[in-house]
Amino acid sequence: MSKKKLKVSAIRNGTVIDHIRPGKAFSVVKILHLDETDETVTITSRVASKVSGTKDIVKIEDRELLTEEVSSIALISPEATVNIIKEYEVIDKRNVRLPDTIENILPCSNPVCITNHEPVVTVFRVERSRPIVLRCHYCERTMQEKDVVKVLG
Ligand code: CTP
Ligand code: ZN
Repeated sequence: MSKKKLKVSAIRNGTVIDHIRPGKAFSVVKILHLDETDETVTITSRVASKVSGTKDIVKIEDRELLTEEVSSIALISPEATVNIIKEYEVIDKRNVRLPDTIENILPCSNPVCITNHEPVVTVFRVERSRPIVLRCHYCERTMQEKDVVKVLG
């Protein structure tokens, strides 16, 4: 058994985001604003994965995250799975898939974009998913994968 194997306890109810790319759990916390939730959140980083190498896991107790809420995780970890847990059982398991638009997550890199001057929420259309290309709904500036990583880590 790898020394990185941790004993992570099962949860009774809630959401488990599994197979997150190693080190990216903190970006998931950012995307989902989990620093602002009252629920118990467990972050496990670089635990041994039975598939290959290591992975991160984020568990949110007593909260069932909706598909729309978690889909933006695909920006940084397209292989992540979202498991809904009820009475210790996995009752639903889904892959994350990039939505058509990314709202209120990334700032626009264009200094003259209205989103950097007025209190409007940023909206990007997803033009490509691999590699990621996003286009600002307001100023048409594109964001590449490296720009996304710069913001989200
Ligand atoms: N899990 C949990 N609490 C539970 C049940 C499951 O925290 N009561 C976690 C598991 O530790 C795992 C994830 O939810 O990280 C998915 O559980 P499960 O489907 O049982 O695991 P695997 O079969 O290994 O999933 P996969 O095939 O997606 O790798
Ligand atoms: Zn813009």
